[in-house]
Amino acid sequence: MDEVRNPYGPGAGTPPPALVGREAELRAFEIKLERAKLGRPAKSLIATGLRGVGKTVLLNRFVEIAERAGYRNAFMEASDGGNFPALLATHIRRLIFELDRLGALSERVKRAMRVFRSFTGRFSLDGTLSFSIDVDPERGEGDSGDLSADLTALMVSVGDAAKDRRTAVLFAIDELQYLSAVELSALIMAVHRTTQLALPIVVVGAGLPQMPALAGEAKSYSERLFDFPLIGELAPADARRAVAEPAAMEGVEFTRGALDAIVGITHGYPYFLQEWAYHVWNRADRSPIDADVVQAVTPRVLDHLDRSFFRVRFERCTATQKKYLRAMAELGPGAHRSGEIADVYGAKVTSLAPIRAQLISQGLIYSPLHGDTAFTVPLFDEFMKRTMPR
Ligand SMILES: Nc1ncnc2c1ncn2[C@@H]1O[C@H](COP(=O)(O)OP(=O)(O)OP(=O)(O)O)[C@@H](O)[C@H]1O
Ligand SMILES: [Mg+2]
Repeated sequence: MDEVRNPYGPGAGTPPPALVGREAELRAFEIKLERAKLGRPAKSLIATGLRGVGKTVLLNRFVEIAERAGYRNAFMEASDGGNFPALLATHIRRLIFELDRLGALSERVKRAMRVFRSFTGRFSLDGTLSFSIDVDPERGEGDSGDLSADLTALMVSVGDAAKDRRTAVLFAIDELQYLSAVELSALIMAVHRTTQLALPIVVVGAGLPQMPALAGEAKSYSERLFDFPLIGELAPADARRAVAEPAAMEGVEFTRGALDAIVGITHGYPYFLQEWAYHVWNRADRSPIDADVVQAVTPRVLDHLDRSFFRVRFERCTATQKKYLRAMAELGPGAHRSGEIADVYGAKVTSLAPIRAQLISQGLIYSPLHGDTAFTVPLFDEFMKRTMPR
């Protein structure tokens, strides 16, 4: 088929041609937005899931919806070892200026500017932000040096300012698992306070599946403050739609056999669906596209994924880490007990604990339940078996 017109979008955060199977999450989000605008308490939402399931795409869609609902938005992506207060401050600064431009002089907006000055002064962020704000700091607000208290003061001042302007603010934060424990706990406390005060602020996030546990460790009341919808592989019917609909828009069809083959190989994981559909499209020379084309491209797609998506993660590991991952892979997909993995590895659980901890902090594996271990990357077990055959 015409490569130029190939509708599929394999990538990171690339909007899919058809966003399917996420209706429940989108509806839940719309309700939250409307409630927050009315000053009704609304739980915040943190989408969790493995790599490539569509968390970033969903978060971007949330921002679009919020924009249409009249929200002011800030989308940001946390990074491993990054400075979250600085990242957040950059966005808050812009938001405060936006709020300022919305009308005549507002004492609430000016106050937010002063608290912002205190906050950035206290956390020495003036240097990391290209411009500061030309007002005097609000002494005693946002400048205690305790991140939880100061971030709360700042968020409350922004919420007050937004309320004064009869608008609302959405913070969308991707890769939340990279926040340090102190940063995460400060963010949760700030959300807690703005919720109590019924301020028009909504915080949504996305992160790997360990997010509920990390948030729970940071603040025990997290589960009452946030919903943690688990974003996963698409159900077979949705997965077929994700492949068939974009082609149909271009007047191209897939046979049922071709769709089933793609869904079978990818297990319905969104990123893999896009990759397979993309390559199948390019290889096919007529419509309807049949299962033979899928079989024909599969070795090439696997090879491409092995060398890019999987390999970048694998390359960062030491020999013992790789051996640990290989032992896990032997046990197949899903979660496994530390004891089982140790048996396959051929060592004691206690001696493997440091390796496991390193792999968790690198984000390659996570612990869905105490003592369990699973891959954060779908189909990683199959990759490990291909790349390290026994
Ligand atoms: N609901 C969906 N239907 C079809 N394709 C989707 C869907 N959601 C995401 N995708 C596609 O899946 C791929 C991965 O999406 P995205 O980058 O949002 O995943 P992610 O969960 O943020 O991954 P990571 O954890 O690596 O950041 C993209 O190519 C995107 O177009
Ligand atoms: Mg992402």
